[in-house]
Amino acid sequence: MKKEISIDQLVEDMGHGIEVITAAEAENNIIPRFNQPKTIACVNAEFRIHDDIPKELKHGVFAQAGSYPAMLRLANATNRDDSKKDIRGLSIRLSNVKGNVVWGEQGYQDFVLNSYPALFVATPEDFLSFIYSRQNDKKLGFFLNPFDLHLKSLWIVFKARKKHLSPLDIRYWSTVPFRLGKDSNQVVKYSVIPCSDYKTTKVVSAGENQLRAGLKAHLQKAKACFNFAVQTQTDPQSMPIEDASVIWDENVSPFHTVATITIDNQDFDNPETLANCESCSFNPWQSLVEHEPLGRMNEVRRLVYANAEKFRNKE
Ligand code: HEM
Repeated sequence: MKKEISIDQLVEDMGHGIEVITAAEAENNIIPRFNQPKTIACVNAEFRIHDDIPKELKHGVFAQAGSYPAMLRLANATNRDDSKKDIRGLSIRLSNVKGNVVWGEQGYQDFVLNSYPALFVATPEDFLSFIYSRQNDKKLGFFLNPFDLHLKSLWIVFKARKKHLSPLDIRYWSTVPFRLGKDSNQVVKYSVIPCSDYKTTKVVSAGENQLRAGLKAHLQKAKACFNFAVQTQTDPQSMPIEDASVIWDENVSPFHTVATITIDNQDFDNPETLANCESCSFNPWQSLVEHEPLGRMNEVRRLVYANAEKFRNKE
């Protein structure tokens, strides 16, 4: 096993690599995100908490039935061209949230998810090795380094990257765990599951923005719907906190729907909304105390995301 690196050191080393990589990828003076750089869309939505939630899940934003205004960002992990295979991202920000936050601004709760239930690396140390390979322009070098092979990572990336017809018909996962409840031992993961009546069945306006076109066509025909669901850790060995590459078995612990996201038709495909989407930022630590991020992978994300956001917005 690799030697553990301190969180401070990881944040510094990752931050440096991310700045070098993203500065080199800048176009028209815009520094892209390190991950999920291609914005498909930012849309407004309603996040409605159900009233039939089991008592043990009624914490934080799920404590009471009701609605929060939400903003969703849908994105591609690596490709600017929507027609290529990729992992898709879904970031959610709830507003008007009551309660104390662990970090960030009062009144907001973020959830950051992507379209595969496991991350391609187990630990932040492996993530740092991947950043170093990307910095040296040798992405495959991370997976196939004879002295430090990452075949499981290669397998996860192979399975996770897919062609999609619409980001509204994809399932998303938090991949890493969160606490549920203040001073609680309850550990959960999140998943966002499509529930729209309408499904996109063929490519709309083939080309590099075809997912944006598919999303637009869907909303013009019908509202979009996602269920927001919670999975509880029932066995710390098979459902670890510290290995982000392990999928928690849904047959052992199923996901419970606690909220429904509804997206109405709206004008999101305009320069102003897309520019705001480009500069906005999400952070898993922008969170109520009751939903505190857990594990070292999450720990490094707090300052890595915050510093990356400052760098790309040139603050
Ligand atoms: C050590 C682990 C990780 C590192 C170093 C990392 C790094 C980053 C960075 C630097 C950004 C761009 C932040 C910004 O400029 O605003 C980002 C965005 C993102 N990451 Fe991660 N990430 C990690 C783990 C994860 C995990 C576990 C997920 C699983 C869901 C994830 C999903 C995303 C998504 C969806 C975005 C886009 C956020 C947005 O819409 O602004 N990342 N990541």
